Amino acid sequence: MRKMAIAEIKPGMKLAKTIYRNDDGRILLSAKSEIKESHIQRLLDYNYEFAVVYDNDIEFEEETVLKPIKEETRSKAVALLKQSVKHIKTDGFLECEDLVPVIQEIIEYILADPLIVYNMVAIRNHDSYTFSHSVNVCVIASLIGSVMGFDRNELQILGIGAMLHDIGKVRIELKILNKKDPLETYEFDLMKAHPLEGYEILRQSVHMSYLPAHVALQHHEREDGSGYPKRLKGTEIHLFAKIVAVADVFDAMTSERVYKAAAPAYIAYQEIADKAGIQFYRPVVEALTKVITPYPKGSMWLLSNGDKVIVTNVTRLDCLAIVVTDSTQSKVYNLYKPAGIRVIQKMN
Ligand SMILES: [Fe+2]
Repeated sequence: MRKMAIAEIKPGMKLAKTIYRNDDGRILLSAKSEIKESHIQRLLDYNYEFAVVYDNDIEFEEETVLKPIKEETRSKAVALLKQSVKHIKTDGFLECEDLVPVIQEIIEYILADPLIVYNMVAIRNHDSYTFSHSVNVCVIASLIGSVMGFDRNELQILGIGAMLHDIGKVRIELKILNKKDPLETYEFDLMKAHPLEGYEILRQSVHMSYLPAHVALQHHEREDGSGYPKRLKGTEIHLFAKIVAVADVFDAMTSERVYKAAAPAYIAYQEIADKAGIQFYRPVVEALTKVITPYPKGSMWLLSNGDKVIVTNVTRLDCLAIVVTDSTQSKVYNLYKPAGIRVIQKMN
């Protein structure tokens, strides 16, 4: 399978992942359908930038990797988020009641399988960054919360805070939000107002708990006081905001943007892990490793003892990889517990 820009897709190729309409979440094009000229035009009409197609020379393979939410749920969440933002812009307040059942759906899906892991490759596709980022942060934060033992009610409040953590950006000028060049100091100061703007919007709109508003307010605060807007430290920051901070940074690093390529999950994880106890709360970073896959199934790695391995199975507890350098032996490593051996670099 390969993610391709719509402009590079040719009639006759086969779609590997279903594409859902970004306005109402209904199916636009089904997986395995042969792409026609009219389909390409339809994807362009819906402003999709990418689609996942099968490589011609590789056999069709059912996707067996785990993924935390159904594509349909995800598309529904994105469509509802868009509506909510429109509401704020036209009426000045947020209508988020419709979002709650979708967040519950995501949480039920996560709770149904205690070994589920976040598969970034399966999830990252065609939506515009802002909306898919919000949904990804909601999924990653909910997964972290489930590992940390939160109950349904807590996960729902965490999920709402995570989904709406950046809602204050609706009050930031688009030319600042979309600027490709580095921001001027005054522009960065304006940008740094989004947590407080988000707090105000959510205090007026979410009546079930004050916590989603606090998540929006504190998601850029850091353990060592280096964050903003209030330079809070350690215990002054709510645990939900610490979780959303990690989920936000992880998803931002692994996302492709106009000004940067997407970092692989293992690089993003290593960078976050290096700041555990400094900028990020260590128990949250430890929970992150259980719900993301730094070493996805099928990826090849060089180990510090010279062995080359391919990952064959990933769960929250184990990441099994077999040696490919020597076909006569069937040595298996658990990359989560490599016993004195380090993973050096990715081979494919
Ligand atoms: Fe933010």
